[in-house]
Amino acid sequence: MEYIENIEIKNKRVILRCDLNVTIKNNNIIDDTKIIKSVKTINYLLDKNNSIIIMSHLGKVKSEEDKTKHTLYPVYLRFKELINANIYFSKNTKGDELENIVNNLKPREILIMENTRHEDYPEKLESTSNDELSKYWASLGEFYINDAFGSSHRKHASTYGIKKYIPSAYGFLINEEVTKLNELINNPEKPFTVIMGGAKVEDKLKLIKEMLKNCDKLIVGGGIANTFLYAMGYNVGTSLVSLENIEEIKELIINYKDKIVVPIDSFVENNGEKFYRKNNAIENNDIIYDIGEESIIKYKEIIESSKTIFINGTVGLYEDDRFKNGTKKIFEILENSNTKVFVGGGDAVSATNKLGFEKSFYFKSTGGGATLEFIIDKTLKALED
Ligand code: 3PG
Repeated sequence: MEYIENIEIKNKRVILRCDLNVTIKNNNIIDDTKIIKSVKTINYLLDKNNSIIIMSHLGKVKSEEDKTKHTLYPVYLRFKELINANIYFSKNTKGDELENIVNNLKPREILIMENTRHEDYPEKLESTSNDELSKYWASLGEFYINDAFGSSHRKHASTYGIKKYIPSAYGFLINEEVTKLNELINNPEKPFTVIMGGAKVEDKLKLIKEMLKNCDKLIVGGGIANTFLYAMGYNVGTSLVSLENIEEIKELIINYKDKIVVPIDSFVENNGEKFYRKNNAIENNDIIYDIGEESIIKYKEIIESSKTIFINGTVGLYEDDRFKNGTKKIFEILENSNTKVFVGGGDAVSATNKLGFEKSFYFKSTGGGATLEFIIDKTLKALED
């Protein structure tokens, strides 16, 4: 499949699959990074006199109620603020209302179709890449562009099925993601440091193993660090630990003892109160929620002597004001260092935006699971022919 800039695509009705799966609370979009990043391909297509049918999923739809909960309507309203064109919204993902809007769509007009996963209930059609649904959606347009990097680890009707029936290409967002992530995978300037955070080791173990092959240092933080500390024999109180991965982690600690770096102090919660614990002297009822100042100093030295950094996840519970300091300090150190910083995965990017680093860093990936899978497998399922 080609990239959009290498093909002639003019005066067509284009189906554009974006990843507009954003968090919405009380009709407010919490982080619109994915929406903003979709605009480049949209404007490019409008400039070439195309009309566009935008498709995306939003959340998971397993009931009739989920359909009301997971609507792209707030995303449609945000696009109306960002794009200078007539934009319509279709409440349906099939049928007359949708087809009427499609048939009346003029060049340089846009239709945002309701959440593709409304076709996952009562029958799972979108997520199983149902052929009839793929063919039907394909029949609405003349050309298909996939720009949904964050959804392309899913072989679904809207990410994969449609391209079997009409000519297709990738958009600018996918191009940028693939180029930048390939740079990170194949050509990181050394020393290369990975900062791995997040809640659960089991979600990140494959990525950790992959990264350890190529990086010079792997700093662990967040919930993941608890399992590493536990495997090293420390008491971690009642903190989250992934017992089923302990043996594997022990092996990694032995095999990569010069690369793996764990916290040396922390902030914990005990009976609802915050305490500082030096030298990893954790007490029985403690729950570890952030790294301490000595860990930050240690990480700073490593960061400042690195040329490339990949940060995935956060080093503490940044959503809680009491425990956001470690994550914020690490971002500040990264920002003031001369290193090329790649931020990967939904949580780390949301944290950078929430803590005031919206405009910082060399590259922020829009993918969550997709970014991790791309780094591990070097491709994504929906990008295969
Ligand atoms: C994401 O937000 O990571 C993507 O949109 C994928 O969402 P999914 O895990 O629900 O498929």
